[in-house]
Amino acid sequence: MKSEVVRVELEERSYEVVIGAGVREELPLRVPSLGDGEVLLVHDGPERPWPAEVKQKLEAAGRRVVECVLPAGEEHKHIRTVERIWDAALEADLDRRCVVVGVGGGVVGDLTAFGASTLFRGVSLAQLPTTLLSMVDSSVGGKTGFNRPQGKNLVGTFYQPRFVACDVETLATLPREERIAGLAEVVKSAWLEGEEAVAMLEADADLLREGDVEATIRAVVMSVRLKARIVSEDERESGSRMLLNLGHTVGHAIEAAEEYRGVRHGEAVSLGMVAACRVARACLGERPDEARLLGLLTRLGLPTDLEAHYDAKASAHLVSDKKRRGASIRFVVPTSPGKTRIESIAVDDVRRALGV
Ligand SMILES: NC(=O)c1ccc[n+]([C@@H]2O[C@H](COP(=O)([O-])OP(=O)(O)OC[C@H]3O[C@@H](n4cnc5c(N)ncnc54)[C@H](O)[C@@H]3O)[C@@H](O)[C@H]2O)c1
Ligand SMILES: [Zn+2]
Repeated sequence: MKSEVVRVELEERSYEVVIGAGVREELPLRVPSLGDGEVLLVHDGPERPWPAEVKQKLEAAGRRVVECVLPAGEEHKHIRTVERIWDAALEADLDRRCVVVGVGGGVVGDLTAFGASTLFRGVSLAQLPTTLLSMVDSSVGGKTGFNRPQGKNLVGTFYQPRFVACDVETLATLPREERIAGLAEVVKSAWLEGEEAVAMLEADADLLREGDVEATIRAVVMSVRLKARIVSEDERESGSRMLLNLGHTVGHAIEAAEEYRGVRHGEAVSLGMVAACRVARACLGERPDEARLLGLLTRLGLPTDLEAHYDAKASAHLVSDKKRRGASIRFVVPTSPGKTRIESIAVDDVRRALGV
């Protein structure tokens, strides 16, 4: 089994992210160091082999496992689903020594982590992300939460896991389009990281599109390293962590306009990065390497046809974006790889640059 370990340095809250093929095997080995109580196993995939396998391995290692199966999908990312996590623990009489383990994508991860951060005022948490997006983004960094009718992720906590295992073998059951969508966050990470990371994705593009295991491990390691570094510098997003929003300002507006049903998050981020290049050019006179970015996104199978998705409705959502400060937007400006920065840009200028 080939694996890599990335450490997220946060003093006494530091933890390891293990990345590789088959690394779900590490979970039962790590749980003893996280707590000596029962395990609350939270997932939304009873039809997939991964949760059952984790359960069986933990039980074989002598742990009692309480299972909490959540309904799948972003539409269930609300407080009533969090209550199911709390209640599963309370009804099974678990106590503060329990270990909460989340197995699933970003929705399960965010809900499970919020549940763990609030249950008995905080219990140990381990994550086994099973979508590419959750491996490269949501499982690392400690943002937890759920949606409200007023918007996404409006209530939550910062709560770091004690251990994360990114097992690319679990992607075998993930629909191709979901996997491809996750590649948008990988491109984002590479663009923030620099030339070498972008060149690596260019060399690996065909393999990544087809889900090659080795290339996927390389991409996850690169992304998690970058995220770990940024989170260590700025855990609570008061500065450099905002860079991770590259492509997300316009991306969120597109998702909201399509009521979170038309495009996947990663697809919206891909379109958002295209938009960010246009804004950088029109509003700041930058000459971002747009052809290179578009070329990479296209080869990976991601959408770049901004006109087909960015319309007056999306433009209206930009105005109400929560990151907006007064009449301007904190915008992540892509130039060349490794040269991304944050600028305040007037919202009207952004809308003019995008032509709607
Ligand atoms: N906390 C953070 O820092 C952070 C960062 C980025 C995104 N997020 C959140 O992540 C969420 C999106 O995550 P996502 O894209 O993983 O979506 P998701 O969790 O909804 O997963 C997508 C779908 O795939 C299914 N699935 C998961 N793993 C599978 C597998 N291995 N095989 C087959 N099906 C599988 C899920 O049941 C779901 O139906 C959003 O709610 C977003 O807000 C959080
Ligand atoms: Zn994202």
